[in-house]
Amino acid sequence: MKILILHGPNLNLLGTRETEVYGSMTLGDINAKLIELGEELGVKIKCIQSNHEGALIDALHDARIWANGVVFNPGGYTHTSIALRDAISAIQIPVIEVHLSNVYAREEFRHVSMISAVCKGKVVGFGWRSYTLGLRALVEMSG
Ligand code: DQA
Repeated sequence: MKILILHGPNLNLLGTRETEVYGSMTLGDINAKLIELGEELGVKIKCIQSNHEGALIDALHDARIWANGVVFNPGGYTHTSIALRDAISAIQIPVIEVHLSNVYAREEFRHVSMISAVCKGKVVGFGWRSYTLGLRALVEMSG
């Protein structure tokens, strides 16, 4: 089994960005945790981050060919991107939406997600553990 971990805009700054909201782990630290968990679960993990909407869409289209599923944190594009939603609908592999912060305890504009309705499930508010919980759920469901 192969899983894509896809990180959206500004997540490359984790570790220094609003650490009171997002925690002190860097993106590299989170990816290392996911690769380690992947080894434990017997799945291959590929991690991609982009600040560009089109590059995220390309990564989703590519995943259609090689991956069994995607764990996706679209960052701020969550709240705005119909194009990402359409890409998720188009690829027909399960996508799990994850967010480090509890978006529902934050500004109202973060309560809206363009992609939730086309995702298999969603994990929010557990910091980096949102990703590991999402990965575990995806692997269990796909096995
Ligand atoms: C985020 C929440 C988004 O609202 C925000 O724009 C992000 C990070 C999270 O992981 O909590 O960039 O997706």
